[in-house]
Amino acid sequence: MNLVSGATVVAGVVGAPVAHSLSPLIHNAWLDAAGLDAVYVAFAPPPHRFTAFAEGLRGGAVRGLNVTVPFKEAALAIADEASPFARRAGAANLLLFSADGRIAADNTDGAGLAAALAEQAPLFEPGAGPVLILGAGGAARGAAAALLEAGAPEIRLLNRTRARAQALAAALGAPVRVAAAERAIAGARLVVNATSLGLDGGAGPELDLEDAAPGAVVMDMIYRPLETPLLRAARRRGLAVVDGLAMLIGQAAPSFEALFGAPPPPLDVRRLCVRALEAGP
Ligand code: ATR
Repeated sequence: MNLVSGATVVAGVVGAPVAHSLSPLIHNAWLDAAGLDAVYVAFAPPPHRFTAFAEGLRGGAVRGLNVTVPFKEAALAIADEASPFARRAGAANLLLFSADGRIAADNTDGAGLAAALAEQAPLFEPGAGPVLILGAGGAARGAAAALLEAGAPEIRLLNRTRARAQALAAALGAPVRVAAAERAIAGARLVVNATSLGLDGGAGPELDLEDAAPGAVVMDMIYRPLETPLLRAARRRGLAVVDGLAMLIGQAAPSFEALFGAPPPPLDVRRLCVRALEAGP
């Protein structure tokens, strides 16, 4: 357990809801193992007060914040400067507050996605064929921007609200395009669920995995439950699967380094997270 002193550095995560976030568990375990005088807490301002909340942190009394649903786009909007990747994704999952009052935005979700693929599907090559992304919200934006950067030759977007997918495709440009539902998965080398379908015991996206490319990889950003209906179906077909926890930890590592100035110490935080998920909400 970290002891709080008069010099303790404060950082955290902001979201709504945020109480079930595993980020405090991950970051505080790393802080503890590294022996750093810092804490990582969860903030849940009323959604309409997010901007006032973050503006109030100018000056760096709080070192920085990870940002989660539904504030990623608003976070980018209030920043004075943003990394090229955050700008391309149109969303920020990290805000850093400096002493001079400036706010810098970054997005480590792309690095998280790449780390998750490297860890759980090491043979996957982004350049090898079409990618299908389900969703067009903040999570899908980060995934599309990351896979575009990684060299995916074709990124298909499938979303309940077609106009949102069209807006994302227009923002990122070719080779990102809106897919026709019936042909979306045909020959896909990677399928990424960036919707909330399958969360907390709900039904997963309806998709015939039989039409994916042989040896395709199926990834779900949802980690509650760890094995979502989509991942279960993929596993049954013998496809490689990548779970949401790998991505959560993958984005947490560069966030930790940006917030606390050192990479996370070697520690099996995945085991801690799995135990917390098994213990229930
Ligand atoms: P996030 O930042 O996690 O992406 P979001 O912006 O609220 O959160 O996006 C949620 C995604 O899940 C969207 O793509 C949403 O589809 P819409 O754009 O049509 O809202 C998708 N989604 C949520 N509930 C859904 C449902 N019941 N059926 C299909 N898609 C759903």
